[in-house]
Amino acid sequence: MRLLESRADLSAWQSETLSGGHSIGFVPTMGCLHDGHLSLVRTAAEENGRALASIFVNPAQFAEGEDYDRYPRTLEADMALLEQSGCDALFYPRESDIYPEGFQSIIAVEPLSSELCGAARPGHFQGVATVVAILLNLTMPTRCYLGLKDYQQFTILRRMVQDLAMPYTLVGMPTVREADGLAMSSRNRYLQGAEREQAAALYRGLSAARSAWSNGERDPQRLEATARAALTEAGIERIDYVAARHPLTLAPWQSADPIAPVVLMAAHVGAARLIDNLRLDDA
Ligand code: PAJ
Repeated sequence: MRLLESRADLSAWQSETLSGGHSIGFVPTMGCLHDGHLSLVRTAAEENGRALASIFVNPAQFAEGEDYDRYPRTLEADMALLEQSGCDALFYPRESDIYPEGFQSIIAVEPLSSELCGAARPGHFQGVATVVAILLNLTMPTRCYLGLKDYQQFTILRRMVQDLAMPYTLVGMPTVREADGLAMSSRNRYLQGAEREQAAALYRGLSAARSAWSNGERDPQRLEATARAALTEAGIERIDYVAARHPLTLAPWQSADPIAPVVLMAAHVGAARLIDNLRLDDA
């Protein structure tokens, strides 16, 4: 696997790749890789001539007081995992490669970025949209693979690509889970002792909402209450939101909508802020 540490390295690799006639499958990440990330890399490698990943812990998407400083950085282990997963190149830029001196631009996808996770994390999705736009324009991939675990992030990025006529195809990939249903996340490392078991309540709540849905429940408040009950029963007190939303627009879901809702949630367990979601018509 090639390590590309600057814009110049990246563009040299790109010229070689494109002149060889290969398509590029791109997976942007912040590192501390787990099987969720690697499933994206494996698919990128299967569906394209070359797979490219990036690792960049993006300061612009962390607010003051969030975990930017303690976000786990595990480059060597990440490189070994990428290599095993069929990754051809890793873009590992310095901050000045992403935000060169004089940088001023911002991409704001509004109001989608201000609700759900955006309400608790002001500016977060502007930081995400801006860095992903830069990464896409630098890497110019044939396809970019993103996880549906970050459902609002995916929805915002899809909106951005469409609104700004960016010539990239985004592919949304299913959430990879631990055996008890907990969605894999770099932040699961913050869970200590009994918190790890508590964290499984998020998926239990989503599964309970899905069962209610398949038993005919169509009232959005009752679907939300079913999901929320699992969190409170597990002793989770800091719940940012539990919301049944339209799966394409993220508008509040209404019983008359001709499409099943996605239920999204965010809650604090110990030092970790965890998010998860489930389309209620998912098998
Ligand atoms: P990060 O949290 O490192 O996630 C990188 C990619 O992996 C995202 O597309 C995310 O949705 C996906 N992912 C994470 N956990 C997953 C899981 N359990 N199953 C499937 N996919 C999963 O998301 C970011 O980084 C950043 O915001 C980024 C897009 C890189 C911009 O900085």
